[in-house]
Amino acid sequence: MTTPATLKTWVHTLRHEAQDIISVDLRPVTGTALPAFTPGAHIDLHLPGDLVRSYSLCNEAGATDRYVVGVLRDRASRGGSRAVHEQLRIGQSLTISAPRNHFPLDESAAHSVLVAGGIGITPLLCMACRLSQLGRSYEVLYFARSRGAAAFTQVLQSLGARVHWHFDDEAGGAPDLKALLAQRKAEGTHFYACGPTPMLDAFEASCAELGLAHAHLERFSAKPVADADDAQTHYRVELRKSGLTFEVQAGQTLHEKLIELKVDVSWSCEEGICGSCETRVLEGQVDHRDMVLTPAEQAANKAMMVCVSGCKSERLVLDL
Ligand code: FES
Repeated sequence: MTTPATLKTWVHTLRHEAQDIISVDLRPVTGTALPAFTPGAHIDLHLPGDLVRSYSLCNEAGATDRYVVGVLRDRASRGGSRAVHEQLRIGQSLTISAPRNHFPLDESAAHSVLVAGGIGITPLLCMACRLSQLGRSYEVLYFARSRGAAAFTQVLQSLGARVHWHFDDEAGGAPDLKALLAQRKAEGTHFYACGPTPMLDAFEASCAELGLAHAHLERFSAKPVADADDAQTHYRVELRKSGLTFEVQAGQTLHEKLIELKVDVSWSCEEGICGSCETRVLEGQVDHRDMVLTPAEQAANKAMMVCVSGCKSERLVLDL
């Protein structure tokens, strides 16, 4: 049976988890079950005001009776986190997407280090639950501005997780991430990070400098990716299913053209980090500018994020 693109749920619980963070517990409509998910997965919430936003699932993987997401009220919100905090009500129905996972957990690793910055704890909490359940070796590096801003600390404690806590206000500044990673460098260890952009940039740079072979990260906000040197400024696009053909001219983007032509694409972040707009590529060479596909997936050229990516060939044929 194929999973439908969207699912009907209702808001069962809204819970204060930490300063500016609430959890939203969603249940399926009576008599149905939600698709099982794996650690690291996220879903899109279709919020009031026609907003679609992605959030990581943080409850126990495999659950089909509920999905839980944690949402930080973002001061720089484009409307998504404000809609969750101010407009969701218990009992309200909410359309969501089926889970997607671009941040999978390797359950066979000898040891896993989960590096969480603030609300970045959400996908890692789900991983910690799973690793505890499997009896695998893991630890959590949890960084937050203060104790009051750190969500789900009690869940981690109830799992018996080994946690290295770092609160900026108590420590007098940010952690020395490279030193913490270096102390944990060992054959077969996998490192996972989720959190704010500066932390993830430092994680990426530190892992490269330390030669950590198994480093994985998930971004909540995009890092700008420049166009490739051989990117086309003008190219032709064919949409195989809808039969549309159009040109992307210099100064335009594929994203703008698809919106202008009202092509049915599932938009969410529109900045190449959530995977919602992933589209099959049938012909042509993509200039990948997303944070979702791995370098190997980008090189395979079988799919693209049409919200940010461009084209290196004169023609692009998409399965839309
Ligand atoms: S809409 Fe999120 S990756 Fe394109």
